[in-house]
Amino acid sequence: MRIQFQLNGRTVEPEIRPDQTLLSLLRDTLGMIGVKEGCSIGECGTCSVLVNDELRKSCIMLAAQVNGCKVVTIEGIALEDGSPNDLQQAFIDHGSIQCGFCTPGMVIASEALLIHNPSPTRDQIRDAIAGNLCRCTGYQQIIGAIEET
Ligand code: FES
Ligand code: FES
Repeated sequence: MRIQFQLNGRTVEPEIRPDQTLLSLLRDTLGMIGVKEGCSIGECGTCSVLVNDELRKSCIMLAAQVNGCKVVTIEGIALEDGSPNDLQQAFIDHGSIQCGFCTPGMVIASEALLIHNPSPTRDQIRDAIAGNLCRCTGYQQIIGAIEET
């Protein structure tokens, strides 16, 4: 079957399998390799994307569910000239990027928070990234970056 949706600001019309996950569509079909595959069961957050400005784990969504939606991956949040947006720059400045595997999902979760709450408290930040695991326990730097953005 064929679906149509907005991916990082442009319209795409991929052919999908009925049982294909959104993660597989984004990585394997559309080349968005910034969307990482970790647990594949909705627990680690590495596959996080925005669907209509809401945080979603793409490993537990079917590709068919984004028909007609607006999807943003880590590849779509930089400025038009390719330089980091304010949130990405804050992650860099705070030393919040350690392994690179959890980071795209962590940035996307933070972006989702800031879309809906531009001035979150530290507790709200902790809640917002609670679904994203960092095995190096670099949470303080990440929280500091989000707080500053
Ligand atoms: Fe999707 Fe872990 S790969 S939550
Ligand atoms: Fe990625 Fe900790 S920085 S797992």
